[in-house]
This record gives sequence, C-alpha cells and structure tokens, in this order.
Amino acid sequence: MPELAVNVDHVATLREARKVGYPDPVAAAIIAEQAGADSIVAHIRFDRRHIRKRDLYILKEVVTTRLILEMAATPEMLEIALEIHPERVTLVPEDPDEMTTEGGLDVVRECDSIKEASQVLGNSGIETCLFVDPDVEQIEMVKQIGISMIEIHTGAYCDLEDSAEKHAQFSRLVNAVLTADNMKLKVGAGHGIDYNSIKDFKELPQISEYSIGHSIISRSVFSGLHQAVLDMKHLIEGLK
Ligand code: PXP
Repeated sequence: MPELAVNVDHVATLREARKVGYPDPVAAAIIAEQAGADSIVAHIRFDRRHIRKRDLYILKEVVTTRLILEMAATPEMLEIALEIHPERVTLVPEDPDEMTTEGGLDVVRECDSIKEASQVLGNSGIETCLFVDPDVEQIEMVKQIGISMIEIHTGAYCDLEDSAEKHAQFSRLVNAVLTADNMKLKVGAGHGIDYNSIKDFKELPQISEYSIGHSIISRSVFSGLHQAVLDMKHLIEGLK
C-alpha cells in the first residue's frame, strides 16, 4: 500500500503571513498523524518563509511516524539536518525567487555535491532522497552515485489541464517510474497532487509514497485537517 507523507509547510505559511504564533505546523502534524499520515514533511528554506528551526526541533520531538526534512544541499542546511536528525532528508533545489520548488535537482551537473551531502547524512544514519524531474538521465545518475530513493516531481503533469501535453507528461512519468523501479530505486512522487490527480496514479503501483501538502491543507480550511487527511488516505488506499 502506498504511504501518505503530509507536508505541513502551508500551515506555517499562514502563520508567517501575520508573524504570530498560530496556526502551528506542529499541531497540524499531530492531527495529520492521528488521521493516518505515514510521515510528516517540512521544508526549511533559506528565507524561512514558512518552516523555522523551532518547528523542526518540536516536530522531531512529537512526530511518532517519520519526519522528512526537505532542504537544499548547502552547508547551512546540512548542519540543521544533523542537529534535528530527521529520519529522511529530501534534497531539493532552491531558487530564492520561486513561489514553490519549481523543478527537480540537476543530479547530473551537481553529482559531486549531492553525493557528498548524502554521505554526510548517511554517516549520521539519515536516509537521503533526491527530488528529480521525470527524466531518465537524472534517474540513472541517482543510481550511479548510490542513492536509493527518489521523489519524482509530478508538478509538470498535475498542473496541466487535460490536453495532449498532459498525456505526454504522464508518459514521461510512467517511463521515469518504471526506469527507477527497474533499477531497484525506492520511488516516491510529489508536487501538485490533489484529490483528483491522485487517482491517475492507479496504474503506477511502483510508487511507494505520495508527498502532498497544498491540496490537503487547502481542503482542511473547509473540512478540518483530520477529514482532509482521511479523504486523501482513502483515495490512496483505492490505488492498490
Ligand atoms: N515534494 C516536494 C519535494 C516539495 O518541494 C513539495 C512542495 O513543498 C511537495 C512535495 C508538496 O507539493 P504540494 O504542496 O504541491 O502538494
């Protein structure tokens, strides 16, 4: 059964809009776990636009499933990861001007620094996952540098309206997932997945984890977070 990793960044975004103490992403993590989340995801950025170090310290204390930290592979972020010691780090690219993570890592170009970062994490017992576009060349390089998990960027597919381009993007996703699975990589997927697009992944049982934030936190405004997580969990259970 694929797992659901719930990203709580957007709760922190709302807090930071007012620079007050609420809503607290830590409270969101507790509710998400009670509703069946298999992991909690938080992304710390250079500008701290949502998650702060304080959140990570407390998340590490209270999360009873698995804490996944998303971050860029910089010395500052690696220091934070070693201090917090999440179960997994997902390395992502970071452009200060982007609204959200807009593309996958260029593992081919940055293979040395990525490999080095994953070794630093691995020496401390932290699993590394790489966020990559559905691109076979990138996936082959992940395998070559000895990292065992990828999260495939689904944004380019999920953000499109139904069209020939969307179908082409889905073929790219299928090809990427099958390539990674053949190489015995663990495959997650994330970015832009909502309550409709999740159903499209039924034909890809190789995906073992979905990392979802925006759609769940958005639905929670109307239905409550517990229900929003339950609804997504049920859809993921329906994929098997
Ligand atoms: N996976 C990664 C690597 C991300 O950077 C994000 C966004 O923070 C997500 C998944 C979740 O994307 P969304 O909020 O669109 O569900």
